[in-house]
Amino acid sequence: MVQDPRPRTVPSPGGQDSSAAGPAIRTAFPQGARHRRSRARHLGDGRNGLRPMRDRADCSAHHTQRERTPVGPSRHKRACWHGGEEYRLPRAGLDLWGHSQRMTVKPETAWQAGRLGSSSGAPRLLFGRMYEDAEIERAAFQGKGRVFCIASAGATAIELADQHEVVACDVNPAQLAYAERRADGGQQETGDAERAMNFARAFMPLVGWRTGVVRAFLALSDVNEQTAFWSKHLNTRRFRAAFDALLSPAILRTVYASEFLSFLPPKFGAVLRHRLERGFARHQNASNPYLRALLLGENGEHTRAKTPHIRFVLADAASWLESCPAGFFDGFALSNILDGAGAAYRSRLSKAIDRASTKEAVVVSRSFAEPPGLESNQAACDRSMLWGVVDVRSAKTF
Ligand SMILES: C[S@@+](CC[C@H](N)C(=O)[O-])C[C@H]1O[C@@H](n2cnc3c(N)ncnc32)[C@H](O)[C@@H]1O
Repeated sequence: MVQDPRPRTVPSPGGQDSSAAGPAIRTAFPQGARHRRSRARHLGDGRNGLRPMRDRADCSAHHTQRERTPVGPSRHKRACWHGGEEYRLPRAGLDLWGHSQRMTVKPETAWQAGRLGSSSGAPRLLFGRMYEDAEIERAAFQGKGRVFCIASAGATAIELADQHEVVACDVNPAQLAYAERRADGGQQETGDAERAMNFARAFMPLVGWRTGVVRAFLALSDVNEQTAFWSKHLNTRRFRAAFDALLSPAILRTVYASEFLSFLPPKFGAVLRHRLERGFARHQNASNPYLRALLLGENGEHTRAKTPHIRFVLADAASWLESCPAGFFDGFALSNILDGAGAAYRSRLSKAIDRASTKEAVVVSRSFAEPPGLESNQAACDRSMLWGVVDVRSAKTF
């Protein structure tokens, strides 16, 4: 391992010029990739950038496709607890002499740890389901082609895969493997975020939220009735006090690392309650799967079909986008990866997106932060109701 004392970004295997994209990338994206349904393909193993791609019409047409650019925490313990952790990112290829190259970088985003808290250890499954209304991405990317998507629990990638070629990327290997299982028809599993939410829901009876009352609320589909029901039966003083306490910095710090909290607005409990009220006044409860999951932890999912043709990539988003061919994507579904990343990462990602996007490409990105007066904010349209920002904008202005 080459030790580099300075924090640095990871150069792309192929530099900025798409024509110089590394062999792994050329292998992963053959010409004519747009016509995915007409041609069965199989990706080379991303760890061996020189391995040739072979067509495997016998199986690959029915399986999700995988590329491995391993990115993750090094095996050694954190050098110091406040941001001194270092990560080794193997380059996706060999140097001129055939030596595999590794370098050491400082994490630019807290997500690289694959953990919500500040403890060290192996990356964990954080999200068993997504609280992101993929209808926003579906509308934003309508008529567009290839889409880059953060994998997370797989839901957005799966929702987009019937209309688009999807590259689903995640820096957390546990999360990426889970998204692959989901696309392969696997059952929903419980991640750390759901465990924290289950814990919070255990307080529901204490604030007078009986399951029958919550179910009656969820059965409503008139938004005026919903608002009235909420005020009368659910938005009680006890509920408000408990909700605000659970979302206070002191309690959140017991679950989340400081990087995941620094951007939250003051009085986050009250802010989130207002976002929920905005949602009840706009979206029908009865047909809202996100609300059912939020209030009761219910999945409401029956058997799932397999979703073929999603290309799964284990990598940091900015690193990978710096390496893919220029002008490659028409859409970017970024989840809220910038919640937990510093300004340097944001600017790096924005440059990488500018390079990797077509002229008309659109970016959808979310944040729990309060919106800085954004015209392009569609947070109120998101049926999960949690977001302060759901920014839908041209990739060239991201
Ligand atoms: C941003 S999180 C948030 C989850 C989301 N709000 C939901 O409702 O599911 C989603 C995923 O993004 C991944 N992620 C975060 N930063 C990333 C990055 N820079 N590159 C690739 N994946 C990243 C995390 O590992 C996680 O699996």
